Amino acid sequence: FNVPNPVNEPVKEYRPGSPERESLKKAIQSFRSSETDVPMYIGGKEVRTERKLRISPPHDHQHTLGYFYEGDAEHVEQAINAALTAKENWAALSWEHRASIFLKAADLIAGPYRARINAATMLGQSKNAYQAEIDSACELIDFLRYNVFFATQIYQQQPNSSAGVWNRTEYRPLEGFVFALTPFNFTAIAGNLPTSAALMGNTVVWKPAYTQVLAAKVIMEVLLESGLPEGVINLIYVDGPVAGDIIFSHPDFAGIHFTGSTGVFQKIWGEIGANIHKYKSYPRIVGETGGKDFVLVHESANVDEVATGLVRGAFEYQGQKCSAASRAYIPSSLWPAVEARIKDFLSEIKMGGTEDFSNFINAVIDERSFRKITAYIDAAKESDQVRIVAGGNYDGSKGYFIEPTVLLVNDPNYRTMCEEIFGPVLSIYVYEPSEFDTILDIVNNTSPYALTGSIFAKDRYVIEKVSKALQNAAGNFYINDKPTGAVVGQQPFGGARASGTNDKAGSSLNLLRWVSARTIKETY
Ligand code: NAD
Ligand code: ALA
Repeated sequence: FNVPNPVNEPVKEYRPGSPERESLKKAIQSFRSSETDVPMYIGGKEVRTERKLRISPPHDHQHTLGYFYEGDAEHVEQAINAALTAKENWAALSWEHRASIFLKAADLIAGPYRARINAATMLGQSKNAYQAEIDSACELIDFLRYNVFFATQIYQQQPNSSAGVWNRTEYRPLEGFVFALTPFNFTAIAGNLPTSAALMGNTVVWKPAYTQVLAAKVIMEVLLESGLPEGVINLIYVDGPVAGDIIFSHPDFAGIHFTGSTGVFQKIWGEIGANIHKYKSYPRIVGETGGKDFVLVHESANVDEVATGLVRGAFEYQGQKCSAASRAYIPSSLWPAVEARIKDFLSEIKMGGTEDFSNFINAVIDERSFRKITAYIDAAKESDQVRIVAGGNYDGSKGYFIEPTVLLVNDPNYRTMCEEIFGPVLSIYVYEPSEFDTILDIVNNTSPYALTGSIFAKDRYVIEKVSKALQNAAGNFYINDKPTGAVVGQQPFGGARASGTNDKAGSSLNLLRWVSARTIKETY
């Protein structure tokens, strides 16, 4: 195998006056001043229905960015049939030809489509330019390029042979079609889930979140321009349960590549279990789900590093990362200094629309999330177990804006220390340094999740002890860094416990789930 060695796509800075900033501003303006038409793509054809739904920026919800067309059960059937029809030719295509399409897609995003996909993510999902750049440009490009590289590693794994016997393994795609069900918060994930399964020779029905359709459309434009044959990836906008009912009872359902909330994944798993006798093969179930990600601070830690890690880890993209720091445990000896630094940082942070590049905080994704997050804040204001250290205000009149909010709780089992809020709310419990071992137990046991977590400490013995004690509490564990921002090819990403099947996106572990190996023994 001779494939280009991947390197991580460099992050552009969008400095004032730079060419990349100017082209990004033009792309934003172009989306804002026209109403983009967002059809479904089934069997390579654009599909429109009578049911047109409005797309608006979360930070300016009265503005119309365009419309997408909602499908129904019939469109789910059409998408499945298109995937099954395309399957034979796609699976028979030599691996290099499939890979070339995704390498081309990566180059198109790195070049001519970079501004367009970032603008779609900034406006559609309310990400600032940096958050869009590291997601819809760099991470998606990295997924596309690294997956090709990881696939070569899989195809090269061959068994030993002996005199007169030639053993070999064929890494065939799954029999049937794969369902990619994607969340709103990362364009890179939305792009990776269908393309990684397709790279391994599968054909796919892809349903994104309704709040992410603008970027989904751009991904589809890129894939079609890259030469993706019709029917290999079919993009539908259909209510999740409606799509699920048809897909999970279909005999050719071969697997689900899911990222989203734990509750939805558990429901889906139950549905698949209930239909298990209907399938030709046991479906692959791959799901990356919720998190309640911790930051544990030891008294040997550096205060500035802690405060920076907390503010960036908790509030970038309004805390809507599965990996976001949402519960922190800080020793009483460091708390006054950490509190002061956090307040300093937050006093400098600006909140507003993504079109103003100086805004660090933008809006949360939709009214439902706004209500859920602000209900937690209101309850905290009423509780005698909580002191509001910073933030706590919100305003949904123009956009769904919530201030970065820091809660100091006096009970480490208070609900905001245990439940996924998925918004800009950081809960902090201050412990006595002598209680460190008890705190380790609490970190390990107060939440069902195990996605990401950080230890801040300079003491090596402490770092080693924490790393061992919390070995099952996070799929991605950080030492002296925020628990967000995994880079493809550097920190394969995924969580255990209620956070997912831990099949590490952006690694050969993940790609292995999309093949069904055949072992051949030939005697000669
Ligand atoms: P979500 O679970 O609400 O939705 C995910 C997808 O499932 C969407 O396409 C949605 O329309 C669909 N869906 C919802 N209910 C369904 C049902 N009953 N049947 C079939 N499909 C259904 O998640 P979200 O709000 O889009 O994303 C946020 C969640 O995703 C958070 O919990 C976050 O932690 C998680 N997440 C996890 C990771 C990870 O890598 N672990 C990454 C990103 C997001
Ligand atoms: N991969 C994303 C992160 O690490 C979710 O923040």
